[in-house]
Parts: sequence; C-alpha cells; structure tokens
Amino acid sequence: MPNLNFVGKSKVVNHHREISFRFLEKKYGSSENMIIHGDNLLALRSLLATHRGKIKCIYIDPPYNTGNEGWIYNDNVNDPEIKTWIGKVVGDEETDLNRHDKWLCMMYPRLRLLHELLSDDGVIFISIDDNEQANLKLICDEIFGRINFVGAIPWRKRVSKSDVPHGISQDFEYVMCYAKKDFQAGRRIDRKYFESEDFPGRPWRTATLTKQTTAAERPNSFFSLINPKNGDEYPANPNRTWCITKETFQQYYDQDKIIFPGDYDFLKISKPVMRYWKSDDEKKAGINFGLTAASTYLPPEVGMTQNGTKEIMEIFGEKAFNFPKPSTLIRHLIGIATITSPNSIILDAFAGSGTTGQAVVELNREDQGSRKFILIESMDYCESITAERVRRVGGDFSFYELGDPIFIEDQLNPDLSRDQFRRYLFYSETKKEIPPMNPDESTLLGIHDGIAYHLFDSVLDFNSLNQIKTRSNGYVIFAESCIISQETRDQFKIYFRKIPRDIRKI
Ligand SMILES: C[S@@+](CC[C@H](N)C(=O)[O-])C[C@H]1O[C@@H](n2cnc3c(N)ncnc32)[C@H](O)[C@@H]1O
Repeated sequence: MPNLNFVGKSKVVNHHREISFRFLEKKYGSSENMIIHGDNLLALRSLLATHRGKIKCIYIDPPYNTGNEGWIYNDNVNDPEIKTWIGKVVGDEETDLNRHDKWLCMMYPRLRLLHELLSDDGVIFISIDDNEQANLKLICDEIFGRINFVGAIPWRKRVSKSDVPHGISQDFEYVMCYAKKDFQAGRRIDRKYFESEDFPGRPWRTATLTKQTTAAERPNSFFSLINPKNGDEYPANPNRTWCITKETFQQYYDQDKIIFPGDYDFLKISKPVMRYWKSDDEKKAGINFGLTAASTYLPPEVGMTQNGTKEIMEIFGEKAFNFPKPSTLIRHLIGIATITSPNSIILDAFAGSGTTGQAVVELNREDQGSRKFILIESMDYCESITAERVRRVGGDFSFYELGDPIFIEDQLNPDLSRDQFRRYLFYSETKKEIPPMNPDESTLLGIHDGIAYHLFDSVLDFNSLNQIKTRSNGYVIFAESCIISQETRDQFKIYFRKIPRDIRKI
C-alpha cells in the first residue's frame, strides 16, 4: 500500500500516546451533551478514558490549510525539527515550504485518537477541500485502513464564480468517509404495499420481472411468458431479459409471486411483474426494514456555505462566524449514519460555531431520537459562539474546561494539588469520580464495589491501619512504603500500592 511520508511523521505517529490524561473539569450544566473548551488533542486523549469505542459518528471540519486561515501548529512535540514550527502561523504555498507537513503532523495524532474513540459500527466524516484532500486520504487509509474507506462525498459549497484561477470555478469540496469496521448507513424509503382481497392481512409490493442482461448473456431467461389464465403472451426483450427462467416460472407462479396485467384493476401494468410479500421483506431486512442505501450524491436540501452563513445570521443577528457548514449538511450525514441507532453519541472535535450541536438537536427533534453530542473547540468563542448557538437552538449541554496534566514526561505533575492527586488515584482505580471527603476519615478516597481506597502520607504501618474506620471487603492502600508483612496483608485483604510506582496511567 502506498504510504505518505512527511517531515515530522516519525515523531507524531505515536504522539497521541505521549499525552497525559487530564480531567475534563465541568464548569456548569447537568446534561450528557458535552461542550469542551480546549485543544482537541488533549481533550480527545482525556475522552478515551470514558468513551473509547463508544462513539458512533464523528464529523470533523478541520482547518483546510488554505494559507489564509492563520492557523498555528502548537502541539508539544519534542523534536528539534518540529520545534522550529511551533507557535508560528502556517503560511501559504509560496512562503511556507512545510505547510503540508505541519498540517499532517497536526492531523495525524488527532485522527489516531478519533479512530480509538469510534465504536466498531462507527463512522467518521471529514470535510476537506482540494488543499489537503489527497494527503488526508493517504493518512486516513493508513489510520482507518484502506478497506474501511467508504467514499469521498462531493459537496457543492457554492454557485460558480467567474473570476477564478484557470477559468474553472472550484465549487465542490468533499466529505471523506471511513467506517471503523461494521458500519452500515441507510435512508428511509416509503415502499408502497398493497392489501388485496385475495390475500387478506398479507400486504405485498410489486417489482420488475426483468433484468439488465441480454438474450445472448442469459438465453434461458429469453422466452415468452404466457399467462396461464388466458394465454396472453409477453415476449422477452432481447436487451433486457426476464429475471426468471422458463424452468423457475412455474415455481414462482405457484407461489403467487407473478402478477399479470389484468390481475388487479388498480395496478396499471402492461407487462408481468414480480410480487414480494411484506413479511418476507421484514424477515430479510431485520432492523434495516424500510431502509435503502444512502448515496454519495447529496440532495440539494443539504445547502451550501451561504446557507450556513444565513443560519448564523439568523441565530446571532450578525455574521458571528466565517464559513460555517449548513446544519442541514451535517444533519443529513448524521441522519444516514445513525438511522438505526438514534441514541448514539456524535462527536465533533473541530466544532467551530457549533453546527454539529444544532444538527443533533434538530435531528432528535425530527425523529424523536436521543442522540448525544460532544463538541470540542479550542478558541475562546467556545462559550460565546459554540455553546451559545446550541443554547439558542434549544439544546442542553454541560460545559467543560481541560484540567491540569496528571503526568509530565512520565513523572507525576509536581504542581498537582492534594485534591487533584486524590481524585486521580480514585479515578485511575475505579473510573469513578471521588466522593466528597469525610473529615473523620480523611485517608479514605472512596469505596467502590466493596473495596475501600485509602491514601496514606508515607508509610503503611499498623498505626495507619488503626485510622481506618469504615469496614470493607478489601482495602487498596496507596503509600510510599509498607512495613506490614505480606501474610498480614493477605489476612486482612489489604492491597498495597506503592507511590509513585503503582499509580495507574490512564
Ligand atoms: C473550519 S472550522 C469548523 C467550522 C464548523 N464546522 C462550523 O460549521 O462552524 C474549524 C474549527 O476548528 C477549531 N480548531 C482548530 N484547531 C483546533 C484544535 N487543535 N482543537 C480544537 N479546535 C480546533 C478552530 O478554532 C475552528 O473553530
């Protein structure tokens, strides 16, 4: 498989693993929908602790690297070559020879984290234009797997302009689509079923009895069909034969699966057709009954950039954000992706004006779904635009900021407060938030599944054990050292965790 190489690649392929966990600090709200203010690299890393393999649908709209965006590569990669880029605005094609390398270094670890967050039946949609589409395709093939490439969906962003380079107006961009593994999209179709007196309670539909094969290709299906009831004859079309053979005709006819003109007055047909029973359709399709394949052709209702701008104007009364996507586009994508799972989680890690939040809120309203969203935006307008938009379209959410890193270059962050440390210890063991501290038993972090978790300052000895008041089935005790014998520990179900050696990294 072709592999894309770029400056800095060897330094970023595992960069997502070097990032420390941080707590997402809830600032307000009680909704399961999340809006996170902060760099998505850090936020996604933290989300892994709670959402690995749980996200059904990701939509992202990263900077396109047009040379006009003023985006800055800011990741803390410890490499001299890359360090020269950090904190500098990425330039245009003529002035910045590394602009594509920078973009790829920025995207690579984020895509890796997004891949880990996706559920097996999940999907990612990535908006992109010709500036980076080809590069993105290659790194996505590497990260998501070439076989999981679903398609490049062309999206018409504008009506043609005349003052354009080379005299061709570039009116389309793409939504690159990759499945994690077992993703199935679909759209609802309204199939017409008939109920007739000869088959009460057994609705049926008609379908063509012909096939796109020629007489030469399918000689057995090239014959005249004769209506056994009246002898009327229907010759086959040499360019489009029947989809049955002379031999199978009788079998289908006996099962009432072939309808001739005149069988039902309400059917306006001039040739025989096939009959399918609704019960068979239901059995065959299972949860996909009533659905058909979605298409890479986006219906015009998804709108263009101008529709996105109009939405923003309507919501804020001013052009509060440049080039937002129309929410109808994202709603369409999420709609086809979650047609059979309207309770799933949708993630947008480059949230911008919060269009994805609006799309989820409105899609839920439309189909009574209860999808949840997670939006991440690094800029300060995360509160004033991203969150405010969701608020104004009637969505609820909890708002988060990024906490401090727990580790710095593999060592515990020395600036962590005692409370942060206690919280992390309990969380790293139980994946649960620490309960409020009980002043009468301040060493107790919390109890989970019948096990009490304690933190002692230095040595675990009998003195410290005497401070334990709450009885439990077992005791996980963090301390710097332990002078209680293994035998005694076993006897009282005490599990010693040496600080910092045994602190789990999540
Ligand atoms: C093209 S805009 C997305 C627009 C969005 N789809 C909409 O309809 O409003 C890209 C957004 O990603 C944000 N962004 C860029 N780098 C980021 C990062 N590292 N972490 C979080 N957000 C980032 C930018 O601030 C910008 O708001």
